[in-house]
Parts: sequence; C-alpha cells; structure tokens
Amino acid sequence: MCGIIGFSGTENAVPKLMQGLSALEYRGYDSAGVAYFENGSLRFVKEKGRLDKLQSKINAVGVFDTTCGIGHTRWATHGAPSDVNSHPHGTENVLIVHNGIIENYAQIKSFLISKGYVFKSDTDTETAAKLIDYHFTEIGEPIEAVRKALNTIEGSYAVAALFSGHEGKIFAFRKDNPLIAAPSLDGSFITSDISAVLKFTNKYYEISEGEIAVADKDGITFVSSEGNIVQKELQTALWSVDKTEKCGFEHFMIKEIHEEPEALVRTLSPLVYEGNIAVGDLKDDDLRQFEKIHIVACGTAYHAGLIGKVAIESLARLNVNVYYASEFRYINPILGENDLVIAISQSGETADTLAALRLAKLKGVRTLAIVNNEGSALAREAYSVFYTKAGPEISVASTKAYHVQLGALYLIALKFAGIKGTLAADEISRLTHALVNDVPDKIRETLDHKSHCEYVAKKYMNVKNMFFIGRGVDRAQCEEAALKVKEISYIHCEAYAAGELKHGTISLIEDGTPVVAIITSMTTADKMISNIEEVKARGARVILFVTEGLSIPSGIANDIIYLSKTEEIFMPFICGTSTQLMAYYMSLNLGHDVDKPRNLAKSVTVE
Ligand code: AGP
Repeated sequence: MCGIIGFSGTENAVPKLMQGLSALEYRGYDSAGVAYFENGSLRFVKEKGRLDKLQSKINAVGVFDTTCGIGHTRWATHGAPSDVNSHPHGTENVLIVHNGIIENYAQIKSFLISKGYVFKSDTDTETAAKLIDYHFTEIGEPIEAVRKALNTIEGSYAVAALFSGHEGKIFAFRKDNPLIAAPSLDGSFITSDISAVLKFTNKYYEISEGEIAVADKDGITFVSSEGNIVQKELQTALWSVDKTEKCGFEHFMIKEIHEEPEALVRTLSPLVYEGNIAVGDLKDDDLRQFEKIHIVACGTAYHAGLIGKVAIESLARLNVNVYYASEFRYINPILGENDLVIAISQSGETADTLAALRLAKLKGVRTLAIVNNEGSALAREAYSVFYTKAGPEISVASTKAYHVQLGALYLIALKFAGIKGTLAADEISRLTHALVNDVPDKIRETLDHKSHCEYVAKKYMNVKNMFFIGRGVDRAQCEEAALKVKEISYIHCEAYAAGELKHGTISLIEDGTPVVAIITSMTTADKMISNIEEVKARGARVILFVTEGLSIPSGIANDIIYLSKTEEIFMPFICGTSTQLMAYYMSLNLGHDVDKPRNLAKSVTVE
C-alpha cells in the first residue's frame, strides 16, 4: 500500500508534505513525490528511492512558495519502482496521488489511447488520472469530472487530486482504502493515517465512500454522490505524537518490543473485572450460541490465530479453523449460522482480511474483528470489535501487535471456557490474573536478558538458511519466529513440524545447518529431544528456545535461550519476545533497514 498526504493552508506546503511523508513511509517506500501549485500552474517533483532523494531533488528544483500540495510514498503494485512510475500522475491540468488498484485499468487505457492520450508509466494510477482529465476537459468542473471517472473505474482507491484553475484546493475520495481529512490551525490536511499529522492536529473527519472531500486553507467541505453538502462528525484520535516517535530507541521495532508488557496490560486490564471478562461488545447470549470458530488473518496476525486455535480448543473445547484470509475467499468455506468468524488485523485495512470478513457477512455469519487501529475499515464493518491497545505500531515487522492479538485470543478463550463451563470459575480467575500480571512481568524479565538473544543473533546472522522446528503450539510459534527472521534479515527460513521432518525434509539438513527448536510444551518435550537428536546426527547446529526449568539432556544444543517460565499455555508471549529480539539483532547487525525492510509495507491494502 502507499501513503498519501495533502495540505492546503497559509504556510509553505512542501515542508508539511515531507514531514507527513516521513511518518507515512512505513506504508511503502520504494519511491515518492509531491505535486503543488506554483504561480497558478501545477508542478510536481518525484523520484525513485527514499524521501531523502526526493528532498534533494526538491531543493535542487527550488520549491518554496506554495501553500497547497499533495504527496505520496509508494509501495509498487503496477510498474517497478522508478522515477516515471512514482506518483503523482496526470497532466498539466490534473495531478493525482493514489493508493489501491484500478482493476480495469487496461480497458480504460485503451479507451484513452483511442482519444489521443499518451502514457508514460506502467502504472494503473496514470489511467485513472487521465480518465479524470478527460472528463475535466469536457466538463470543466472537478467534482463532476471525478464522479464521471468513478462511474467507470473498478477497484480500490484512495486519491488526492489537484486541478488547474482550482488553486489551493485538494479533492479527495476513497473506496476500500483509508483516507481522512484533518483540520488544523495551520490549514487542512488529507492523509492516509492520522499519525502523519499528529504534530498539527488530532482531529479528523472520515471520508465516506461516495463522498468527495474538498480541502482548502479555510476548511474542509464534503459533497455527497448526489452533489449535496454533507455535515460530518469531527473525531479525535486517541494516539499522541510521542507514540509515533522512537523516544530514544534506535528503531521503532526495538521500542515496540519494549512496549509489549504495557500494551498487554492496557489492552486486557480494562476488560477483566472481579472475574468477569468482556470480549469486545459481544454479549454472553451471543457467545453462548457459537459452536465453531473460524479465524481469518494474514502474516503475523495469522500466526497469532494459530496460537489462538490452541488456546480456544484447549480451554473452551470449541472447534477452531484458521485460514489465510487470501485463501478463505476462494475455498467456498463451510460456515454455519452458529459459527463465529474472527478477523485479526493490526491495521484493520488489510485487503485480504477485509475481503474475508465481507464474505463471512455475505454468508450471514457473525464476525468479530480483533483490531489495533481505531476507526479502521475492519472495525467499521465487523459485527463486533475487540480493540487491542498496543498504540501505533510503526515498524513493518509486527511485534507488540502480535502480543496484544495473543492477549485478545487468550481472553476470548477464557471467556468461552466460562460460558461453556469447560473451566471452573476459580481456574479462569487464576489464569486471567496470570495473563494480566505474571505474563507482562516475565516479558520484562526477558527484555532484561536481551543480550542472550543478541549473542545468538550475531553468531548465526550470516547463515543462508534456517529451520524452525516444534510440535503443536511450538510449531505455530516457529511459524511466527521464522517470518520475523525472514522479513527483516532476508535469511531463508522454514518452519516445520518437528515430527514431520523425517518424512522427507530432513534430507536438507547437512553439516552446519542451523536449526531453531522451540520447546515450551511439556507434552511433546521428550519427542522434541528425539527430533533434535535426529537433526544433530546429520550435522545441524541447534539453537534451543526452552522454558527454564524444563529438564533437557546436557549438550543437546549448541546454544540455549531459556524462556522465563509462566503458565505453560501463555509461553508464546515469552517465546515471541525472545525470537523477535533474535530477529531484530540479526537484522541490525546485518545492516538492514530494520523498520522498513525491502519489498514490504506495513499494511497491504491491495490483494
Ligand atoms: C508482520 O511482521 C508483517 N509485517 C505482516 O505479515 C502483517 O502481519 C500482515 O500483513 C497483516 O497485517 P495486519 O495485521 O495489519 O492485517
């Protein structure tokens, strides 16, 4: 996905656009650009690469006296990262920046070529820009031109646009992608994410689908699809600007790992009172009816779902299926009227997860969204919402969001255990107390011993491949640990069921192959020891993450990281923090951009 910013006020717009873009870089960063008015004409500067390259080009061009402009930071979908594919796109009369996918761009492009248009880029966005230009040329009025173009465009979009002859005005509209309008004392902002403008305001309007927002130095007007002026409710962001700063940490990722204890307490404490547990706004009568749960999510959120399955099935004896959201849509899932679909998403804007939720709703199934981002699409569209309170997660690699997603799922498991009577009330109280008190303490303990993880990270950071093996819930933890290492260290990692290795994959183990083994489950500890011996017999170097106090043969591993002991069922929190730290220090010592790894974006709002 991409980041969009717009500003119209009385001061120089470009510094505000650049500040906004630097806060939005987590949404995509392979290229960037700005468009602005200068002496009544539309201008733009755009560049492949990070924002510092764009700033150098802006300085070279000498862009200084403009009070209205739009900016974009890109995660490429159509067209490789390049100067010409960077946004904005358009003509001398219309310039737009866009987040999303124009699905029928090929047909639109053919039509426009037949009308004499010439295309310079490989992007779908350029077709949308020139279609708007085509209608603007025939109608001469921006809102009608946009309406006409949107009648043709199919797909998802968040767009900010400038039109010649309408200096100082930004036209913004969206479908299936986030975009808000934020008034401030300095002027009016358009942005993909409130965090980009928190330095100037924490007030914002949601731009509804079908509306066109018109922002200028005096304020923001909303025009409905019928052409009427719409009054909107001004909302207040709960996040503060300091939450979007590093606060002395070298990277957002390490800061956010350190925030995990407080994020858990902030998320869970308010929901637990005198033995009662609140689960989003689902009432006990709702919960009593559910007989099966389907979890849909992507990436780390999906891995949280795998752990959630173990928690709910073991504590509440409820059947749980977990699906990649991108798969769920195409398997014609079997959903019953007493099923619950839980969609997990930090951003609440992930296209695949949104689509899965919409399919569940279409099939008449109730949905619960576990979301960190207040006001996101997923939160708006779900039947019920369980808000996690991790605060803004800026680093592309998800860490504290994973922890609060686990927290939500464990609380849901305990709630169901009470509803279904599978656990006695005092056991539920004991586990809930441990979840909200002991687990945060043991994460703090883990953070105090992060040097162990750093040592192991430095020792193995130059390998080309890594295996992660475990059984049951430990295998699910391997999936997440492997993803963390892959996405920020670029080391090829494979998570594998330890008991399955001998059925083929063990042929890949050779002298020196690093194998991470995770043992937190007592039930399978002995079997895991045997699996470790099997890989060692073939030359593997073993890094063992194991709950402290669990008896293991001496010399079983080349390196051991002991995990601070809490309730066994809650060990994924502790192991999660440890493996995140190992991944962080690998990436750091390899010299990678820890917070903005190559090819990635924080939330993938395209399918
Ligand atoms: C996590 O480290 C990844 N960056 C990615 O897998 C992420 O978890 C996934 O894209 C889902 O994002 P969401 O939670 O915002 O839906």
